[in-house]
Amino acid sequence: MATQTVTIPEPVLSRLDRIQNKTANVGVIGLGYVGLPLTLLLSEAGFKVTGFDIDQVKVAHLEAGRSYIHRIPQTEVVRAREQGFRATCDYAELSLQDAMIICVPTPLTEHREPDLSFIRMTAESIAPWLVEGQIVILESTTYPGTTEEVLVPILEKGNAKGLMARRASMDPDARTFQIAFSPEREDPGNDSVARRDIPKVIGGLDPVASEMASGVYGAIFNRTVPVSSTSVAEMTKLLENIYRCVNIAMVNELKILCLKMGIDIWEVIGAAATKPFGFHPFYPGPGLGGHCIPIDPFYLSWKAREWDFHTRFIELAGEVNEAMPEFVVQSVGAALNRQSIALRGARILVLGIAYKKDVDDLRESPSLTIIESLQKQGAEVSFNDPYFPTVGRGRHYNLNMTCAPLTNLSQYDCVLIVTDHSDYDFDAIVRESRLVVDTRNATNGIRSPKIVRC
Ligand SMILES: NC(=O)c1ccc[n+]([C@@H]2O[C@H](COP(=O)([O-])OP(=O)(O)OC[C@H]3O[C@@H](n4cnc5c(N)ncnc54)[C@H](O)[C@@H]3O)[C@@H](O)[C@H]2O)c1
Repeated sequence: MATQTVTIPEPVLSRLDRIQNKTANVGVIGLGYVGLPLTLLLSEAGFKVTGFDIDQVKVAHLEAGRSYIHRIPQTEVVRAREQGFRATCDYAELSLQDAMIICVPTPLTEHREPDLSFIRMTAESIAPWLVEGQIVILESTTYPGTTEEVLVPILEKGNAKGLMARRASMDPDARTFQIAFSPEREDPGNDSVARRDIPKVIGGLDPVASEMASGVYGAIFNRTVPVSSTSVAEMTKLLENIYRCVNIAMVNELKILCLKMGIDIWEVIGAAATKPFGFHPFYPGPGLGGHCIPIDPFYLSWKAREWDFHTRFIELAGEVNEAMPEFVVQSVGAALNRQSIALRGARILVLGIAYKKDVDDLRESPSLTIIESLQKQGAEVSFNDPYFPTVGRGRHYNLNMTCAPLTNLSQYDCVLIVTDHSDYDFDAIVRESRLVVDTRNATNGIRSPKIVRC
């Protein structure tokens, strides 16, 4: 983006000054997997950070210096508290902030359409407390247009002071608040890149907003990437996740073909990945999980309908990826059948219910679909996951199960590896089990007739 000289209006100047000195008050709204780590980074940088959440239990944990996310050590919360970090459910404190960052959920509805209710509710709660010169930044993943079409109108309508969102065309003296969108790019469980080193894309509604948002994020990220609009920033996030979703679908499809052809897809990917250009490896698995890849692409498919446009790649990738849990169930049935054991009545231990290794996140996890399907077919299913002592009821599942110990594995007709947590000793698991179905290549390098890879 071409750099331009920005005239900073008076009410913004002092806030920008505080942001640049890292003495600004920053509010983070939504203290989940995205919001809490962000809060801690901002606090470490020196900002006076207040976390806002509607979940009183989370607020109470943080106020007591406790973490509720496995990969965030309690010591980090305690340190932030010592630096002045506070958590609250009281939105009135938003009026004290120079900048506020929204990190609330953006799931799909039952009909797989964007559910913006959390963003709407948050905007309605912020609006009465808006003060001139503040900046509101949306981080929740969503379709291009959400910031301007959904967030801004609620904030403009809901504040009694007549404040408007600053747009480039406005009189510099207009009484405004600033708006930006900046997508989150976290990869939970992947510690190979330090959070600071992940470049932060920022799209301001106008150059003043870009300047303010860049000031906040520049304090915690080594590189900020300003783009020309909020829509470009929104679309950037979706492109990144659609790219993953489509490529994962492609390797999932090729895996099924390779299994039929007797070729090891993992060996193929390993060999292809030696190519120093033009190839990026993606890996097959039991199906997509988490709050991003299974959901975000469908935000765009929905929006595309407004333009009479059918996003064929997204739909096809969704179809392939959504069929993977059932493919796993069929593979378990076939593996048992080869041992003359019926799926109905078989005792099956599912290893790992988190959606990916080393995270304590169940959202959209393929394990849940696989367990429900196995149960429907009459199997007697247990699970083990070091991150979950129990599993109950969620948006898309209703299980009432307690984590089984990882002992006496020979009591199970089949041990099914769905999530390859680092804590698992796969050598021992294979040794002690009668049959192992592996959806993650976790048993790579172990030679045993008991292993079936799928
Ligand atoms: N989890 C990830 O790895 C990840 C990565 C990139 C982007 N994102 C995106 O970030 C956003 C947040 O995801 P998350 O994983 O942190 O979700 P989360 O469910 O872990 O956390 C959201 C938090 O927002 C709170 N909340 C809901 N409504 C609220 C309201 N009106 N006011 C205040 N707090 C409210 C919830 O209580 C919860 O604590 C989503 O849009 C998601 O797509 C997530």
